[in-house]
Amino acid sequence: MSEQIFNPNPEFAKDAAINSMDAYWELQNKAIEDYEGYWKGFADEKIDWIEPYDTVLDESNAPFYKWFSNGKLNVSNQCIDRHLADKADQDAIVFEGDKGDVQNITYAQLSERTNKMANLLKNKFGVKKGDRVVLYMPMIPEAAYAMLACTRIGAIHSIVFGGFSAEALKDRIEDAEAKVVITADGAFRKGKPYMLKNVVDDALSQGGESIESVLVVKRNNEEITWVEGRDHNYNELITEESAECPFEPMESEDPLFLLYTSGSTGKPKGVQHSTAGYILWAQMTMEWVFDLRQNDVYWCTADIGWITGHTYIVYGPLAAGGTTVMFEGVPTYPDAGRAWKMVQDHNITQFYTAPTAIRLLHKTGEDEPKKYDLSKLRVLGTVGEPIDPPAWKWYYEVVGNSKCAIVDTYWQTETGGHMISPLPGATPIKPACATFALPGIMAEIIEEDGTPTPVGEKGFMCITKPWPSMIRTIWNDPERFKKSYFGDCKKDGEPVYFTGDGAMIAEDGYITITGRTDDVINVSGHRMGTAEVEAAIKKHDSVAAVAVVGKPHEIKGEGIFAYIVLKCVDDACEDLKIEINKVIKKEIGAIALCDAIAFVPDVPKTRSGKIMRRILRSIVKGEAITQDTSTLEDPSIVGAIEKIVKEA
Ligand code: WT7
Repeated sequence: MSEQIFNPNPEFAKDAAINSMDAYWELQNKAIEDYEGYWKGFADEKIDWIEPYDTVLDESNAPFYKWFSNGKLNVSNQCIDRHLADKADQDAIVFEGDKGDVQNITYAQLSERTNKMANLLKNKFGVKKGDRVVLYMPMIPEAAYAMLACTRIGAIHSIVFGGFSAEALKDRIEDAEAKVVITADGAFRKGKPYMLKNVVDDALSQGGESIESVLVVKRNNEEITWVEGRDHNYNELITEESAECPFEPMESEDPLFLLYTSGSTGKPKGVQHSTAGYILWAQMTMEWVFDLRQNDVYWCTADIGWITGHTYIVYGPLAAGGTTVMFEGVPTYPDAGRAWKMVQDHNITQFYTAPTAIRLLHKTGEDEPKKYDLSKLRVLGTVGEPIDPPAWKWYYEVVGNSKCAIVDTYWQTETGGHMISPLPGATPIKPACATFALPGIMAEIIEEDGTPTPVGEKGFMCITKPWPSMIRTIWNDPERFKKSYFGDCKKDGEPVYFTGDGAMIAEDGYITITGRTDDVINVSGHRMGTAEVEAAIKKHDSVAAVAVVGKPHEIKGEGIFAYIVLKCVDDACEDLKIEINKVIKKEIGAIALCDAIAFVPDVPKTRSGKIMRRILRSIVKGEAITQDTSTLEDPSIVGAIEKIVKEA
């Protein structure tokens, strides 16, 4: 099946934004010939500039690139105000709650609520341009209002995924030195209320001194504790605010938001995105990759706590003037047909999710999609990890009824938007293949010195020219930014952006992503740094040393497997494993829990003390050890560990 090619549906291609490979190459060749001219054309066409920019791309302080310098714009204008003339009554957001409650929010209402929230932040809490606001929110429309309200007044939001622990939340608040936290009492999942505000309370009792105010949205109306003077009730205060808050003219390069992500050390990185470049590419990819058209209803199942939720639930769809669906619940509750019922009920035209969700939906309800009318669907998207051919096939045949394009979108938190993806009206698709770089993106698979990796071999996935929506820096740590992304690969002697992924190019130019080349595990499409999990595990008193690796998992893609050396061998027992997982839950959150733990006498280290993770990965997969073990401090340890893992 991997040799099969699926051509775009001609009926659909006819009206698509980019409707043939010729059209694709016309754009890409224009970018190759005149890179700045190419981007200038789109920036002028798409962005509602308050003041014009003077330079398209400023490379003078590489790799701290600047795009559209000195231009002024506002992202909330780009996403709301400029649509009001002709779309005031169109749905901007369609919200469906866990229990099936629906709210249709028009662009006029979105404007009103965003303006009120902006006024509240500005007038009541004194939030000013450049201040950081942390959002610890469930998937409710107020999360979108809060994001847009921040951008309206020039505050920098930093969303912390609701699955992170108090400890993780506190660390992120402190790194960003945030002034305000916006949260909710909690929300609903699988028919039951769950809580968030108490986690904020915990975080702030441990630190986070910079926080002056906590704004609480009421969603599930469960009882919560209020800290006098610090905590404020959104639902009460918002009624007093005016629905008019002029938007702050922002410089193109002003930071738009921070989003923390795992890296190769224990400390998460605050990825900083810019204003103009980010919103431009969010909008363009929305129009191209999802082929968003008038009257479309688009649904992305991500959480706003991840980059997909930023770019493809809020900023991209709204900048493009679309209708975006927000869902509070999980796609398999109350039954395996929930997602498909929603697609039917809301007339959804584009559906975007992750391979882990596709595998889960497939496993729990193979024929479930057939029970619903999914005939409006045109484009199906996937993101987060390489999709396996069986999941792809089910998605294509059963969900898409063999007539929808599948866009396997490859990108990262740091790229801001899609980098490599099929275009639904143009690209002949190969299953489970990200295909080609999008027009304007110079993606190359190279060796460290910049020589192209031979066809069919694994190389480093690099983006060799800066692009508008790229990460600008790591908050408070420009050196780490340089080292993390521009330290590994060079082209023509100059450092180029390395994604951390491996990839292969085929004879015909098709690109397949092969996965991370660094110590990062991809759990359910989310990045988890091994160092971060190890740092958490080390906090347990019984632990002397630890190494974690990814272990293939049927639904999650990869699960976390920990090799732990105890200070005292006699402590080893099942209860200790539970206790260690509790520490992880406290330090990071449930998303980082280990699927399995093996207590081992030691971990394989080189004589210089470096853990040989490759050996540990092979052991967990049950593969034969092909690496040279003679350089190990104690080669006999490998056999001992293999025996323990086999017996476990
Ligand atoms: C990493 C980025 C981008 C939003 C979700 C995750 C992997 C992402 C694909 C894909 C193969 C993919 C990469 C990347 N990845 N999309 N279509 N095919 N791998 O964002 O947490 O920043 O993780 O996810 O390894 O580096 P993230």
